[in-house]
Amino acid sequence: MLELDNLSVRFGGLTAVNTVSLKVGSEDVVGLVGPNGAGKTTLFNAISGLVRPSSGAISFHGKSILRTPMHQRARLGIGRTFQIPQPMHELTVRENLIVAQRFGTGKVNERRIDEVLDFTGLADKAERHAATELALTELKALEVAKALATNPSLLLLDEVLAGLETHGKRRFMGMLKDLHARFKVGILIIEHDIETISALCPRVAVLNFGQLIADGAPDAVFRDPEVVRSYTGAAHA
Ligand SMILES: Nc1ncnc2c1ncn2[C@@H]1O[C@H](COP(=O)(O)OP(=O)(O)OP(=O)(O)O)[C@@H](O)[C@H]1O
Ligand SMILES: [Mg+2]
Repeated sequence: MLELDNLSVRFGGLTAVNTVSLKVGSEDVVGLVGPNGAGKTTLFNAISGLVRPSSGAISFHGKSILRTPMHQRARLGIGRTFQIPQPMHELTVRENLIVAQRFGTGKVNERRIDEVLDFTGLADKAERHAATELALTELKALEVAKALATNPSLLLLDEVLAGLETHGKRRFMGMLKDLHARFKVGILIIEHDIETISALCPRVAVLNFGQLIADGAPDAVFRDPEVVRSYTGAAHA
């Protein structure tokens, strides 16, 4: 479904993503990990069309999307969340979903929105003011809901679990576990916590200084000495 081939993103002299090749299939749930500044969010930005890669190729369902604008990529089925929740101000939860869905699909499907509200546990908060009347867990759930409202076949989740307290996190993880099967989406999820990633993802890819240094089953990847070094910060010392 998604195929990255030697993808690089440079900001001036900084190579944030360095010759990354990665495939994510429609049946895949892949964890994307790596230290702060490793290039994870930048990789998401390149896939969703928010930044322009300096070199390399991106294809989605067999077609190059390198020159496809962001809203078109959304319409092709690439959904994403943002690391910092970005609810649209002045709008209710439901209105946020309607705007996101119109952007991502070109039309509004109320049934899908109700289904997504239900699934993300936001049904009874649908008429709340998104920017001021939601707790952090609900804001994070709204990020996922906005992405789901656009009928994605690939979902890019950027640290949707970060900052949640234990109970909220456990509930949220339960939801993420059901996501793949319920909505038939391939998932690429950025998350720092190794235990969480191991519980959610049969496969994990590791970025360090923009480069993909491992891609495989969590138990093997997290025992890889290069990965351990990148995680303990030795590589950054
Ligand atoms: N728009 C930009 N302009 C210049 N530099 C940028 C830009 N976006 C990201 N960077 C730089 O690219 C590098 C990778 O950043 P990125 O946000 O992708 O890392 P990350 O792996 O998501 O980190 P974190 O775990 O902290 O979210 C960092 O050095 C960052 O400062
Ligand atoms: Mg990031």
